[in-house]
Amino acid sequence: MSKTTVAAPANIAFVKYWGARDLEKALPMNPSISMTLDHCVTRCTVEILDGGHDEVWLSEPDGGFGSPEPEFTRRIVEQLDRVREWAGRDEPFRVATRNTFPSAAGLASSASGFAALTMAAAGALGRQDASAKDLSQLARRSGSGSASRSVMGGYVEWPDPGAAGGIDDEPSYALQLADAGHWDLRDIIAVVEIGPKIVSSREGHRLAHTSPYYTRRLELLPERLQKVRRAIEERDLDLLGPVLEEESTDLHIIAMSSQPPIFYWSPGTVAVLRAVRELRQEGLSAYATLDAGANVHVICDPDSEDEVAERLEDLPAVGFVIRDGVGEGPEYETTHLF
Ligand code: PMV
Repeated sequence: MSKTTVAAPANIAFVKYWGARDLEKALPMNPSISMTLDHCVTRCTVEILDGGHDEVWLSEPDGGFGSPEPEFTRRIVEQLDRVREWAGRDEPFRVATRNTFPSAAGLASSASGFAALTMAAAGALGRQDASAKDLSQLARRSGSGSASRSVMGGYVEWPDPGAAGGIDDEPSYALQLADAGHWDLRDIIAVVEIGPKIVSSREGHRLAHTSPYYTRRLELLPERLQKVRRAIEERDLDLLGPVLEEESTDLHIIAMSSQPPIFYWSPGTVAVLRAVRELRQEGLSAYATLDAGANVHVICDPDSEDEVAERLEDLPAVGFVIRDGVGEGPEYETTHLF
């Protein structure tokens, strides 16, 4: 099959990847655990061309496609090179990609984007049957390490490569802890800022080591990881929630205390965090977490979803709310973008 389309979802990290042993290869300093989402998806179509060069198209707000920034194209082409090398092939591709959610707003568009691109390119080369391990490893090598977790659904852990036996390159890939059917959690995303973030997560990883609190965070992680694994296994939101809030605050403390500092939060972020605390005081189990951006993911159970979403929608600082939840992972689709 020469034209292949994949819809790959974003993920929200409960334990965050922040700081790398090797930034080029996206080898993390610490294990991370995430939930793969359902509706926040990147759709990517890849077609093999008879000759010429790779062509990259990015969807535009009017629904058409345009040429992306040269830097974006460069990262895509480099990833296509990795997939070609892995498959032992050398044909050029035409690629088109579209997100169902605001790009580069801290909503993990690079995770879903590179997971979709990697799988669609592998599929176009006839490798739809590639193992999750290979795809996760390939997606990670895009440089967006969290993409390694978006190639599978449900609850996913990307272990520390050191712990898995080597820190040079392989093995470093994600593993599914539980599928989506295991635990129906919802993620209500309060969008307080739309548009690209000012500082990339790549820059955040690079600077993380300069924070005086970074070493302390690494010391605290083993216990948090254990709690999150247990919370997922036992479907215990009140065990998971406090840990995911600590994790989110830690990431931002480290970002804010890096040299130079990075401030991802906006006034809207604080308003949402306050509202989530109030919801809890009223007896609801809802917990907030942020990746490298200002928007807030509120994790809750299905019974609380309506109330959480309505309360967040009512906040003047919130532009809109995306109702998402745990998803089954990427899918090959029969309708193509071009
Ligand atoms: O995958 P990257 O390099 O975009 O880094 C992801 C960083 C966070 O989203 C903040 C945390 C995570 O584990 O997803």
